[in-house]
Amino acid sequence: MAQNSNYVTVDGEFDSLEKRSFLTIDDYNLENQTIILRIDINSSINPENGDLLDDTRIKRHAATVKELAEMNAKVIILAHQSRPGKLDFVSLKKHGERMSKIINKKITFVDDLYGDKAINNIKKLENGNILLLDNVRFDKEEIKLNKFVNNNFDEQNNSKMVKILAPYASYFVNDAFAASHRCQPSLVGFSESMPALAGRVMQRELDFLGKAISSGPTPRIAVLGGSKAADSVAIAQNFLEKGVEQILTGGVVANIFLMASGVDIGKPSTEFIEKQIPEHKKVINLAKNLLDKYGKRIQIPTDVALNIERKRNGTNIDNLPQNYPLFDIGIDTLVNYINIIEKAGTIIANGPMGVFEDSEFATGTNEIFSAISKSDGMTVVGGGETAMAFNQMGLASGIRHISTGGGACISFMSGETMPALEAMRRSKNKFSN
Ligand code: 3PG
Repeated sequence: MAQNSNYVTVDGEFDSLEKRSFLTIDDYNLENQTIILRIDINSSINPENGDLLDDTRIKRHAATVKELAEMNAKVIILAHQSRPGKLDFVSLKKHGERMSKIINKKITFVDDLYGDKAINNIKKLENGNILLLDNVRFDKEEIKLNKFVNNNFDEQNNSKMVKILAPYASYFVNDAFAASHRCQPSLVGFSESMPALAGRVMQRELDFLGKAISSGPTPRIAVLGGSKAADSVAIAQNFLEKGVEQILTGGVVANIFLMASGVDIGKPSTEFIEKQIPEHKKVINLAKNLLDKYGKRIQIPTDVALNIERKRNGTNIDNLPQNYPLFDIGIDTLVNYINIIEKAGTIIANGPMGVFEDSEFATGTNEIFSAISKSDGMTVVGGGETAMAFNQMGLASGIRHISTGGGACISFMSGETMPALEAMRRSKNKFSN
């Protein structure tokens, strides 16, 4: 097994728990080998003209594509864009053009997945060539075979795409962390027939996220906010079990914990939770159990900013009025949270502290995100909306790792079994000696 990469991991060492359960590109000599590489370049697209509106993921995966091509491997890329029925459910032609510009290397795109056109192009590949096949979700089976049934991947392994493409390759490199919570043929089906290796994006995600949760420098803290409170309470539970020392709550997540601790958060905020979170009773119950078990390790606001006639109005949580919604954390809470952030060795953040889109209520999120970006600790930020907020605020450059995953990041942080990661683990057991 070769150890030939310049890849720099956390603290110069890939020692998270996840590393031990996966193979990576460094474990094999891939020179002259044919590789099926699954990436996630699902991007925002202008429905009017099909132009890419964001190329963040394309840029991130470009490093893996380039490295494999420079190793003189023959690279067959698989990826998806959107879902059937959506306006941005389009071919990957423009993604290929953008990727090619980024790596300054030719990428052949074919509008086919496993038909004659695709196979003819695969047969023509020479060492160092890159071929991008079309949107895997144009294949009906990729959409249909999405269940992790009886804890096996038989259906996906036996899909047409896998049966036809697998014989042409010796290795499967999975770089699609952002889709690793999905159980689809292109993500899990190749791992039984050949060694499945984590690509650089996947490796970096598992390294940083795994380490931030379970083994990063102490004290390890998490900042959880936003409106996806059901997810966040599950994440809080997993983090606390894995030894994250403190959870700082904001947004609707904080409101749930306030309710769980017996605070009446007023009519509008209560109704919002009842409407937006169908399983709110269960979520509040879980939050209550966590507060009983972990006490002060869960920090909840002591003061908040109410929205009174669109103006910020700071108030203590002891005497909240009935008629105004909670739109941000208050100043005392902010000072307390910043103190904790400044002392933290590891910070993992997901979700804003309030309605930051409205400048009147952006203080909490701005100040907390700014403090995180100034931290000398290991800072990790969840993908999707949180990543977007850090970018919009110009704070992204201060963060060590921003996840490419939205749903996948939430799934990982909640400690769920993720099919594509499970497939890589099994592949390691099967193929490594
Ligand atoms: C994402 O954008 O989160 C991933 O590409 C997964 O997409 P999906 O939710 O359509 O499976």
